[in-house]
Amino acid sequence: MKRPKITVVGAGNVGATAAHWIASKELGDVVLVDIMEGIPQGKALDLFQAAPVEGFDVRVTGSNDYAATENSDVVVITAGIPRKPGMSRDDLLKTNAKIVSDVTTQVVKYSPKTILIIVSNPLDAMAYVAKKVSGFPRERVIGMAGVLDSARFRTFVAEAANVSVKDVYGFVYGGHGDTMVPMTRFCSIGGAPLEAFLSKEKIDSIVERTKNGGAEIVNYLKTGSAFYAPSASVVAMVESIVRDQNRVLPCAVELHGEYGIQNLFVGVLAKLGNNGLEKVVELELNETEKTNLKKSADAVKGLVEAVQNLM
Ligand code: NAI
Ligand code: 2OP
Repeated sequence: MKRPKITVVGAGNVGATAAHWIASKELGDVVLVDIMEGIPQGKALDLFQAAPVEGFDVRVTGSNDYAATENSDVVVITAGIPRKPGMSRDDLLKTNAKIVSDVTTQVVKYSPKTILIIVSNPLDAMAYVAKKVSGFPRERVIGMAGVLDSARFRTFVAEAANVSVKDVYGFVYGGHGDTMVPMTRFCSIGGAPLEAFLSKEKIDSIVERTKNGGAEIVNYLKTGSAFYAPSASVVAMVESIVRDQNRVLPCAVELHGEYGIQNLFVGVLAKLGNNGLEKVVELELNETEKTNLKKSADAVKGLVEAVQNLM
């Protein structure tokens, strides 16, 4: 059986860290690509030389040429500029739309059957760009945001309740922006509702902190944005796809009427396997959840309309 081939475009903080975890988990051979000459080659060679020490048995190569990515099973797109302090994700729209469009064109030329995982921000609009430029069906264009936002939520819950993160389950719906919707009603600690451990005020404050989770890190780093938790989140999605795990993860997928939303990338629970998106999970939402999700979808719609005017 052939070893999966996984390309990561953008050898910056998120891309290089994702490559690191993909290699150390032996998910497949890794090709790192970037526009900066020498950077993907140097980082890939350095990572490959960790293989004898760490004992991972995959090849890691770097290139500025998309020919090296030919016949990739999965391509992760992290190319773009990250958010700086004071800059909203939406400010990134124009620059990153052009980058994601150019990258997608190149990737698809060499890997017409690949599955795209989009990371570049503003995420939901960049997923739209990648889908439009690739012409792929929705099963093969998936945005990463929900796994990250949910991981932040779960971390804050575990910390506040003083319990293991392993026992905290929860997920965030909606767009990857200030309107995201942590779905507290479906969250649990060891199967019990959050209210058994935390006051309503505490849960509300965790919801707010989650919504600002990206900005909290940007304010510390000042010259860039989060990358450890984002890359770990990407790798969970890659793993579910290449190992056909059928994990149910919150992902940005193009909705076709589910939750009353049409043709927009919005974060919802999705099953990921060998075919990419295997199934969109539809939950029965209450009125507040429906209202919040609609508000978030409207924000995504605004971004998509802005990007349509640029393309
Ligand atoms: P970074 O600046 O460390 O790396 C970006 C890399 O993209 C750089 O190496 C740059 O040379 C490369 N690049 C730029 N234009 C390119 C092109 N045309 N072709 C190939 N490579 C190109 O940034 P970082 O921290 O890795 O973030 C990458 C993107 O991911 C940003 O847009 C950021 O906002 C986004 N992001 C999204 C998250 C999410 O939850 N969806 C989480 C974290 C970051
Ligand atoms: C984050 O949420 C920047 O979108 C990125 O950390």
